[in-house]
Amino acid sequence: MPTLGFAAPVGTGGEEFEARITTYVIITCIMAASGGLMFGYDVGISGGVTSMNDLLKKFFPVVYRKKNEIQDNNNPYCKYDNQGLQLFTSSLYLAGLIATFFASYTTRVWGRKPTMLIAGIFFVIGVVLNAAAQDLVMLIIGRIMLVCAVGFANQAVPLFLSEIAPTRIRGGLNILFQLNVTIGILFANLVNYGTEKIRPWGWRLSLGIAGIPALLLTVGSIFIVETPNSLIERGLLEEGKVVLRKIRGTNNVDLEFNELVEASRIAASVKHPFRNLLKRRNRPHLIITVCLQFFQQFTGINAIMFYAPVLFQTLGFKNDASLYSSVITGAVNVLSTIVSIYSVDKVGRRVLLLEAGLQMFVSQVIIAILLGTGMKEDEELSKGIAIVIVLMVCTFVSAFAWSWGPLEWLIPSETFPLETRSAGQSVTVCVNLVFTFVIAQAFLSMLCHFKYGIFLFFAAWVLIMSTFVLFLLPETKNVPIEEMTEKVWKQHWLWKNYVRDSDLIDDEDGDTYANQDNGKHV
Ligand code: BGC
Repeated sequence: MPTLGFAAPVGTGGEEFEARITTYVIITCIMAASGGLMFGYDVGISGGVTSMNDLLKKFFPVVYRKKNEIQDNNNPYCKYDNQGLQLFTSSLYLAGLIATFFASYTTRVWGRKPTMLIAGIFFVIGVVLNAAAQDLVMLIIGRIMLVCAVGFANQAVPLFLSEIAPTRIRGGLNILFQLNVTIGILFANLVNYGTEKIRPWGWRLSLGIAGIPALLLTVGSIFIVETPNSLIERGLLEEGKVVLRKIRGTNNVDLEFNELVEASRIAASVKHPFRNLLKRRNRPHLIITVCLQFFQQFTGINAIMFYAPVLFQTLGFKNDASLYSSVITGAVNVLSTIVSIYSVDKVGRRVLLLEAGLQMFVSQVIIAILLGTGMKEDEELSKGIAIVIVLMVCTFVSAFAWSWGPLEWLIPSETFPLETRSAGQSVTVCVNLVFTFVIAQAFLSMLCHFKYGIFLFFAAWVLIMSTFVLFLLPETKNVPIEEMTEKVWKQHWLWKNYVRDSDLIDDEDGDTYANQDNGKHV
């Protein structure tokens, strides 16, 4: 059987299969996407909770003391600089990294549905440990459980959504995951705003309410179907066909079924997906995935998302005002993600990323200037400057939300060839978590040392990533996944050198395994 390229499933490729947008498929996707809700809730909750005095008093007495000594402290940027507090936020991401490798295995061998169930169970255990925490150890173990859940959920959910969705709404459904992340963050901000006034156990309520999305995912993953791709990949052909009919709302699924069988056969012939990922022909996809994830975190978004309340307090806002400000940024985040859902297939990925780069750069520079000139030592910001800073933070968040937020999940998922798509997804999640960890762990110390210059630091990165997009990121709008090699990679001035002969010559480094593998393809 000939192949059109290393990524191309055998078949005509890019054709429209008969598929109705059934209530069943929509409900299934909403349930599955709640994995994103948990991720977002967790990102959002830690910042708010860590600015709560009762929690600080109980678990981080040093930070609490420092915070109250602000009058004597002549460097207000340093009042939250504490490795323990940072570990509380960032432990989540390091543990998730390890979990991702297990999740990659369970996703492939057991299926997407059980992987989501595992995620749900981890979430529930983590929430219980956190809400009932008696000491720092219990609090941190609870968070480690949560991140394992994030590792499993972020591996399985985007894959699940892409596989279950009818082709023509696949992009929209992919961003549904990110939309859930942003709703989770906003929900967390709202909860923090409410529970802050409940003394002395409001923080327990904040952490405990995460039980709602956690249960939703757990119960949801019991009731949803497995994806036809996963069933067929594991040899359950009949079951796969039954599910396909159910989710497509028609009996006329033979064409799609055959293509799935063929695609699974090719994918199954790759015995070492991770090793395959390192081959020269996959270099462009890999470089782009790693860079996009790295850059996403170096926009500085999570400095805002995790530490918004802490940040706003550091900048001189009062307790209530700072939570209020982070509720506003949370809302901007959600609404701007919806903008992305509508525009991504019209204006394209590159336009969104480049426009957003400009917007983020300008807003960060303005924030740095305002802080540099307007904030005197141990004094608070004037009201006018404070308002402009919140506006600039919103400008920054909105740009992120319609560009780097959803697109660094979307682009890797649509550019990897089928045979390395799931391994590619693991790399996506891993790199995301590593750099989320780096930012979470370093941010408060960086704020202490760089002061307002932290915003110039991120602005410089925005400049670098925009240049990267300009020269190295090809446009993938409206290109069928199966035709990426021909229409995208082989047309690109640089990447064409890597994928040029990929249809026939599989391996240029003499790897015997790859030659056998290639033999099966041609
Ligand atoms: C990122 C998270 C971030 C969130 C903000 C996601 O795409 O991976 O790190 O907190 O967007 O909305």
